[in-house]
Amino acid sequence: MLSAAIAISPDFVVAPVRRRVFGSFVEHMGRCVYTGIHEPGHPAADEDGFRRDVLALTRELGVTLVRYPGGNFVSGYRWEDGVGPDRPVRRDLAWHSVETNEVGIDEFARWARKAGAEVMYAVNLGTRGVAEALDVHEYLNHAGGTHLSDLRRANGTPDPHGVRLWCLGNELDGPWQTGHKTAHEYGRLAAETARALRQAEPGLELIACGSSHSGMPTFGEWEATVLELAYEQVDHISCHAYYEPIDGDVDSFLASAVDMDHVIDSVVATADAVGARLRSDKRIGLSFDEWNVWYQSRFQAAPPTGWLVAPRLIEDTYDVTDAVVVGNLLISLLRHSDRVVAACQAQLVNVIAPIRTEPGGPAWRQTTFHPFALTSRLAGGQVLRTEITSPVHTTARYGEVPVVDAVATHDPATGETVVFVVNRHRSEPVELTMATAGAVAESWTLHDADPSATNTAADPNRVVPRHLPAELSDGVLHVVLPPVSWNALRLA
Ligand code: AHR
Repeated sequence: MLSAAIAISPDFVVAPVRRRVFGSFVEHMGRCVYTGIHEPGHPAADEDGFRRDVLALTRELGVTLVRYPGGNFVSGYRWEDGVGPDRPVRRDLAWHSVETNEVGIDEFARWARKAGAEVMYAVNLGTRGVAEALDVHEYLNHAGGTHLSDLRRANGTPDPHGVRLWCLGNELDGPWQTGHKTAHEYGRLAAETARALRQAEPGLELIACGSSHSGMPTFGEWEATVLELAYEQVDHISCHAYYEPIDGDVDSFLASAVDMDHVIDSVVATADAVGARLRSDKRIGLSFDEWNVWYQSRFQAAPPTGWLVAPRLIEDTYDVTDAVVVGNLLISLLRHSDRVVAACQAQLVNVIAPIRTEPGGPAWRQTTFHPFALTSRLAGGQVLRTEITSPVHTTARYGEVPVVDAVATHDPATGETVVFVVNRHRSEPVELTMATAGAVAESWTLHDADPSATNTAADPNRVVPRHLPAELSDGVLHVVLPPVSWNALRLA
């Protein structure tokens, strides 16, 4: 059996656990909104047409923040189509779909309140600009006494929505994006939109678009140019990353967090280099507002063609290996809590999501639901520097990588420590040891003898977290991490 060790001390603090890291994403795409969160006529629908079963699962998932309304969708979206009594039906060029606008920002904000989550709102900087960003801000956040704030009141929302986190567009470096721009064009637009939004409300937190993914030819250069133009106007820059096994290379896939670490470190280095050049004391935060496992190769093989309302798009079914990767990506995000201020798993329901639904039918938890829900519930207090002694193995994509990856949190208020740890090896268990003064209060493993096991509507609890046997002797914790497993231990 392989062996590994973890060393932590409550004195070595990285940063507070940021609750906004447990964010999600609701895009008007596929069945995320329609027949996902919203389905009037469903037996579980509430008075607003929201599915109560999905709301309950969203709360159980521990989602703190939800990005809305896109995604690629937002780059052609007219927010005013989704408010008031008249809802024009429009083409959605991003997903080759028909948007009924039955749900708009007022409905979504009501849903988010019920879910107990903060709204992160993305403005359209693809086909639109400063004026429309100001308009939607006036509608959402201005108290009253102006045309658009009074319109919101007339539409049934007397109090402002108070949205604090704003994304300045979406993935505008991507040639697939409606209104795609060069870094210079986008940087100027982001700076001017940010300046105007701050004139309206100085306390907003504004996020500039970073690269769509680290494989973009302009990765790094895009961030540098955009920040050179908008450094003093924005607070954060976005990162996006999706992972899947390429050509069946599961070992590299299991090491996806190595890439996420690299993306974060690279964007931090780029932002700090710009800050140094500008002689600024300000530090830019990272909003990792799209991340997940996504089998993009399947989507590329069969992109949408018809003009349909809420078609089934990228409804990936996740297995145990996918869940271990998702848990490991959360470890990476937590590890970087000094710079990652928010993160959104993309997306929440049906579309590459931890929650699946059938129209008129059940809602269920995918395998990936479990590491997210447990991490959100258990991570508390401060993130600790986590020293790991681990065996390594070689992957085709990332070279030599540690078999074990982990992060720990410690809450000085309760004295509790929580360790999140993965075993990326496909066949070998790992004996893990860690010195601790605590007693094991909870210990979970997400693992299955069949790493390709999935949850389905017919068998929704095929994969669930199970008890992980843990022993304490002479102040040393001993656990055996099964192969391909994500694990969490709470020490009281
Ligand atoms: O989450 C699906 C899509 O992935 C989003 O619309 C886009 O921003 C990204 O490319």
